[in-house]
Amino acid sequence: MTKWVVFIGSPRANGTSALLADYLVEQLSALHPEIVFHTYAMSDFSLKGCIGCDFCQGGSCVYQDDMAAILDDVCSADGVVVVSPIYFASVPSQFKALLDRFQPLFWKRQELLRAKRDLPPKKPLVLYVVGEGGDPHGFEGLESVVRSSFALADFSLSQTIAYIGNQRFTKTSSLELPEVLRG
Ligand SMILES: Cc1cc2nc3c(=O)[nH]c(=O)nc-3n(C[C@H](O)[C@H](O)[C@H](O)COP(=O)(O)O)c2cc1C
Repeated sequence: MTKWVVFIGSPRANGTSALLADYLVEQLSALHPEIVFHTYAMSDFSLKGCIGCDFCQGGSCVYQDDMAAILDDVCSADGVVVVSPIYFASVPSQFKALLDRFQPLFWKRQELLRAKRDLPPKKPLVLYVVGEGGDPHGFEGLESVVRSSFALADFSLSQTIAYIGNQRFTKTSSLELPEVLRG
């Protein structure tokens, strides 16, 4: 049994990201019965953002909430899918708050580097982006934010699939599956 973790970056419980993620997990579960999917939707969370206090240099965050369990789940996953709307070229603030809370992993990585230990091999990260389109500033910011935070958990972006503007995802869209998980 392998495990993939899915993040839905939208604060809306019934928006496009949630619809897409539901279809995705349904189709991938049928194609890969050996994979278990754990889904975290930002509509279910109200996480405090990082305050940069550096308490996590000692290993754990100053805030005692769901984040430690989420980090454990991510770090032990075989793959990650992020489904996120574009908010002004980046991710919604609720999702950014979660990603900033990856900071304990930064300190762990620093220890590995200091000890000149090999870094673990990279695992696949797939990004789905949804947006209304029309904003000329694209979503490079979103991609960078996701790449940067998940790199600390040893994931490397293997594919970005965008459903934007005229190509937006709807109930009648056919969903492009990640290359790494195609049957
Ligand atoms: C604050 C805010 C900023 C947004 N900025 C962008 C943007 O820069 N580019 C874009 O294509 N869509 C933008 N949108 C539109 C959303 O990305 C779009 O409605 C998306 O489908 C929402 O996803 P959801 O239904 O999963 O919440 C923005 C929406 C909001 C509320």
